[in-house]
Amino acid sequence: MIYLDNAATTLHKPPRVAEAVLWAMGTLGNGGRGVHSGALTAARTIFAARAALADFFGCGDPARVCFTANSTEALNIALFGLLSPGDHVITTDLEHNSVLRPLYKLEKSGVRLTILPADRHGNISYGAMEAAIGPDTRMIACTHASNLTGNLLDLRRIGEIARRHGLLLVVDASQTAGSFPIHMEELGVSVLCFTGHKGMMGPQGTGGLCVARGVEVQPLLYGGTGVQSHEQGQPMDYPIRLEAGTLNSHGIAGLAAAVEFLNRTGVETIHRRECGLMRRFYEGVRDLPGVTVYGDFSGDRAPIVALNVAGLDSGEVADNLDRDYGIAVRAGAHCAPRMHAALGTTEQGAVRFSFGWYNTEAEIDAAIEAVRALARESS
Ligand code: ALA
Repeated sequence: MIYLDNAATTLHKPPRVAEAVLWAMGTLGNGGRGVHSGALTAARTIFAARAALADFFGCGDPARVCFTANSTEALNIALFGLLSPGDHVITTDLEHNSVLRPLYKLEKSGVRLTILPADRHGNISYGAMEAAIGPDTRMIACTHASNLTGNLLDLRRIGEIARRHGLLLVVDASQTAGSFPIHMEELGVSVLCFTGHKGMMGPQGTGGLCVARGVEVQPLLYGGTGVQSHEQGQPMDYPIRLEAGTLNSHGIAGLAAAVEFLNRTGVETIHRRECGLMRRFYEGVRDLPGVTVYGDFSGDRAPIVALNVAGLDSGEVADNLDRDYGIAVRAGAHCAPRMHAALGTTEQGAVRFSFGWYNTEAEIDAAIEAVRALARESS
């Protein structure tokens, strides 16, 4: 199989990741829930992962790296834990349902929501973002990159807007963590939500939120923390404030191994390689008759190319790619309904090719040839 669905999850991981999970499954007790060697080894493994992630994302304080099962859970915690009725939040058309659906739910309970429209190239206006800010605005919540087009939002610029107006900035880094250097303190990010299983190349079921100093997120989940057990309320110390219940320490051990790999290889190197593969594919398909490519390729972007072939249903194209060429991509709506609406692809969907560290130039060339053949057949 030629795996070009890395934006959904990276299938190929550094070998050390699986080895670390296997080691953890045979070694770790429940971290923070005992003083025997298994529990202590788990606690130390988890703490080492927090420290590595704090360093990796420029978070400043390992205790403010809180683990979750994925970025959806992290985003729910951040959005529900920071917004109250009467608050105004600004977001964008680029968002995944993991941002949109919590915000729609909050809107029903009295949060005012502004969704900045994207143009046909999938870009928003930063002027419109600033113009939308009112006296009740509390937060900008946005993705770092569209999971459909790969277009980036300019976090530095948004961070400056947020700083200038004293707003919280919650970022969904699902499509960029591991593939882009991200330093949340430098960017002025209040809460960075990440998943471990995409560009970070860790196991599924891992992720988290990094909470900047001074930002107080109310818990979403209440339950066991291993400490202060006689208190009725959830302890307010980070990270346990946001971590009720047993953590996925096996997955976290794998994620720590993935971070080690990312640091050793260099995120800049990974970014260059993944974007080089993406550009190679883009150059190969952009002018093919019958092929429409979506998004803005004029600057830096996430390693994603979304396209359609003539009027063919995107699901049919993805099925053909899988069946006849052994190429794995994702078609349909990608949980990004507003982005599809902005691109005019709500009915057809789009065929998304997404590239990763372990892809090769030969795989990219095979994918270009497959798209060429499908476009020729459809004409
Ligand atoms: N959110 C993931 C994607 O974009 C699953 O495919």
